[in-house]
Amino acid sequence: MMGSGRRALGLLLAFSLAVALGLGSAAATPVYRIPDNCKRLECPSYTVVHSQADFEIRRYQSVLWMSTPPLNSTSYTDATGRGFSMLFSYIQGKNSKGAVIEMTAPVMVDVEPSTGPFCNSSFAVHLYMPKQYQQGKPPLSSEVIPTRLPVHRYAAVRRFGGFMNDSNIAPQVSLLRTSLKGSPWQASLAKTRGDGYTLAGYNSPFEYKNRVNEVLLWFD
Ligand SMILES: *[C@@H]1O[C@H](CO)[C@@H](O)[C@H](O)[C@H]1NC(C)=O
Ligand SMILES: *[C@@H]1O[C@H](CO)[C@@H](O)[C@H](O)[C@H]1NC(C)=O
Ligand SMILES: *[C@@H]1O[C@H](CO)[C@@H](O)[C@H](O)[C@H]1NC(C)=O
Repeated sequence: MMGSGRRALGLLLAFSLAVALGLGSAAATPVYRIPDNCKRLECPSYTVVHSQADFEIRRYQSVLWMSTPPLNSTSYTDATGRGFSMLFSYIQGKNSKGAVIEMTAPVMVDVEPSTGPFCNSSFAVHLYMPKQYQQGKPPLSSEVIPTRLPVHRYAAVRRFGGFMNDSNIAPQVSLLRTSLKGSPWQASLAKTRGDGYTLAGYNSPFEYKNRVNEVLLWFD
């Protein structure tokens, strides 16, 4: 009697812990809906393991992206403009096979912020490769590099709208960090090295309504 009672209690505790840690993955109902552009364009898939109003926790598989080298710049807008044009030339056929590759979403940018007032930040810009290029060798180019991403398995993600620019990104990163304080993921996030973060933009500059942007903090 007592043994089975204790076992039941143990199971209940283990279950509560699993839920608290976001391991009750099947139960998570995402607050963030699939961006409209992911109904039109191929987007990398992920699993939502926890969802609440101000952020969600996702699990990603490592898949093939095309990446620029880290670009040294004072400005997100400048670096992303330069990086995206390198990737756009590549998908438009400037590659070893002359292949025209379908646009995908999001455009993802890894940011390593500057470490001093007169230092530049570094920005690596990435574009997800469509499924048909996920197996085998992608066309190559001298400007961009095939990369398997993400490096980490999990991301804490905050979504926001509008056009990302050099003044509105940092406040979103701070809001996400604040949301995560005291959460079950804080300790894991603290183990990820550096002050870096990733931005994901799901819209072209010509789309004005319902724009979807995300800031992601990675961890294992
Ligand atoms: C810093 O970034 C600016 C563009 O924002 C660029 O013109 C400059 O060359 C960069 N500095 C270095 C040292 O790379
Ligand atoms: C930018 O370039 C300068 C000069 O080459 C270098 O000292 C600095 O570390 C670079 N910054 C980043 C963030 O890569
Ligand atoms: C950045 O975007 C915000 C709106 O999100 C806007 O109010 C601000 O003027 C923009 N800043 C720059 C430098 O473009």
